[in-house]
Amino acid sequence: AEMKTPPGMCGSLLLLLLLQLQGVRIDGYRPVVIVHGILDGPKEFKTLSGYITKVHPGTKVSVISVDNYSYSVKPLWTQVRDFGKAIGPIMKKAPNGIHLLCFSQGGLICRALLSTMPDHNVHNFISLSSPLAGQYGDTNYLNRYFPDYIKTAVFKICYLRFWQKVSICQYWNDPHHRSLYLQKNNFLPKLNGETFHSDMQAWRKSFLRINKLVLIGGPDDGVITPWQSSHFGFYDSNENIVEMRKQEYYRNDAFGLKTLDARGDVSTCIHSGVVHVQWHSNFTVFQSCMQKWLT
Ligand SMILES: *[C@@H]1O[C@H](CO)[C@@H](O)[C@H](O)[C@H]1NC(C)=O
Ligand SMILES: *[C@@H]1O[C@H](CO)[C@@H](O)[C@H](O)[C@H]1NC(C)=O
Repeated sequence: AEMKTPPGMCGSLLLLLLLQLQGVRIDGYRPVVIVHGILDGPKEFKTLSGYITKVHPGTKVSVISVDNYSYSVKPLWTQVRDFGKAIGPIMKKAPNGIHLLCFSQGGLICRALLSTMPDHNVHNFISLSSPLAGQYGDTNYLNRYFPDYIKTAVFKICYLRFWQKVSICQYWNDPHHRSLYLQKNNFLPKLNGETFHSDMQAWRKSFLRINKLVLIGGPDDGVITPWQSSHFGFYDSNENIVEMRKQEYYRNDAFGLKTLDARGDVSTCIHSGVVHVQWHSNFTVFQSCMQKWLT
């Protein structure tokens, strides 16, 4: 039996128009792909997935589970390949593109993916408290792997070839050993275009396919050090913060950051009172920094 008389042609069009005026996507929200951080996995992102489907019902959210927990210290280039294999098919099924929401170390994996996947269809890329400019500081994570070392000595092992197979070492950025970092770190200097390589132009072009870059982080993070690394700022050799727009890689547009910014497509969001593992589970942060980019 018919439950209700369908509205006439004009009525339907009017309804669609009204929905669209209210910011509801008639053709559905773009799928959201979540990439976890170091020593975590799908379990930690249940809350965030719930937030997304609550505010945007019907959104398909995929939390990629590869290289989870103890596997997350694997070499980053291997992880980039693993995540690419998992995310590629999701992209193919999304004619309007996907959003990529990446936490902590995952933000670096996502950036590397965006740079090396020339046909990606990522619309908005949200980087949630990621060490985008590197890490220099003692953290709980670090102490687990280097219990006897303090930050000033980590370079002695991290910049050895063997340890460049451990993810944390691949974004360890010791501002007092800049030339060693540039020579021995096989991941971050390349990604940030701090060392010249032949793929630079292609990577920049590929990265610039995104519509928006959203950078989220804050001073009470407690893990990302300096916390400004979540916004592409970092220490100089005196451990003073040099902000994004004054960084060499920004000024020479080494990987497209300056172009994105000039386009008006870098959105930054800073919150205090949020510790590292809370970024993905804080509704205030979600509402003010992420929601509007996930349509
Ligand atoms: C965790 O990651 C490993 C390595 O990528 C994978 O083999 C395993 O299936 C993952 N576990 C879950 C529950 O997804
Ligand atoms: C959530 O975010 C708000 C706004 O930044 C902050 O004041 C609050 O302390 C956070 N709560 C938790 C549990 O992280």
